[in-house]
Amino acid sequence: MNKDVNINILRNYKNTKVLVTGGAGFVGSNVVRLLLEVGAHVTVLDDLFTGSPDNLKGVQGYSFIKGDVRDDKLIKDIAGQFDYIFHLAARNIIISTKNPEEDFSVNIGGTLKLLLALKKSKKLKKFIYTSSVSIYGNPHYLPINEDDRINVLTPYSVSKLGGENYAKVFYEGYDLPTVIVRYSNVYGDQQSPSNPYCGVIGKFIEKISKGKAPLIHGDGQQTRDFTYVRDAVEATLLAGISEKSTGDIFNIGTGIEVSINTLAEVLMSIYKKDMELEYIDKRDIDNIRRRVLNIEKIRQKLKWVPQFTLKRGLEKTVDWYEKHKK
Ligand SMILES: NC(=O)c1ccc[n+]([C@@H]2O[C@H](COP(=O)([O-])OP(=O)(O)OC[C@H]3O[C@@H](n4cnc5c(N)ncnc54)[C@H](O)[C@@H]3O)[C@@H](O)[C@H]2O)c1
Repeated sequence: MNKDVNINILRNYKNTKVLVTGGAGFVGSNVVRLLLEVGAHVTVLDDLFTGSPDNLKGVQGYSFIKGDVRDDKLIKDIAGQFDYIFHLAARNIIISTKNPEEDFSVNIGGTLKLLLALKKSKKLKKFIYTSSVSIYGNPHYLPINEDDRINVLTPYSVSKLGGENYAKVFYEGYDLPTVIVRYSNVYGDQQSPSNPYCGVIGKFIEKISKGKAPLIHGDGQQTRDFTYVRDAVEATLLAGISEKSTGDIFNIGTGIEVSINTLAEVLMSIYKKDMELEYIDKRDIDNIRRRVLNIEKIRQKLKWVPQFTLKRGLEKTVDWYEKHKK
């Protein structure tokens, strides 16, 4: 789909009231930027656990609530005011592995609290739940489509799937307009390597930028489907605005399988550096060998295709990092 067409569709958010939970985080702050760009009235709810006001530096015209999605009173007070709720607040995979109870209470409990508070809302047009392709675990077939076998291998994938299930059940049982998007390795602007939970791309960039070789866990032959954040955010907003998406689930990725070795090579070529890659042991969470998504469903139903090649997305990410690293 042509980029301008996307933006024209997204202008239907103009003057709507939108809540972004986790809006001070990496993906959330990019969701906030695009919503403001298309004229929505945006409120961010974030407890700043991994998020930071810095992610929204220079952004004008939104309201900020520092708060927890598990705060019953707060959620009940505010939930009914919004036309759209983008629910991104979550504890990430590393926290989840260290503290599964915390993960359970935020990722499942927080999602349930929001949905319960929305049951009587007359205003809600869509609740958008941001899930993860980690729920597919090690897939039987590639590329993975939305109907493939679920195979949870980490507490994080248990909790992200739990949130999905509640979003689905509230659609089926209470007619709440929900949609689920499953992200695959999102990277890009606002993903700070100084955040210890940052993904592989941020970590590689930080190393290469300092003239050091990227450190690879395992043999580097493991593969992922890396999605540039602007693409992921456009797809998420399209899923929110489209009437055809209600009650549905969409993979968001590129359909391109990239090994960690290749990723490191592309990044080094952007920095015009040629170094020997360094290898260390796998971590507990490195239990997925191959991953690439089938994105036919979102292409056909929502007319969305990614706009950024890996190289272009990485160039933009490096550019952002070099401007902001201080
Ligand atoms: N980045 C990815 O590659 C990726 C992949 C799959 C799924 N996702 C999902 O996308 C969403 C955003 O992820 P991200 O990468 O931007 O992570 P992030 O950690 O940068 O953002 C999460 C935000 O939620 C906030 N938060 C956490 N717990 C909260 C709570 N109890 N109450 C209020 N706010 C809370 C954090 O402070 C942070 O700002 C998450 O739901 C995540 O599971 C991300």
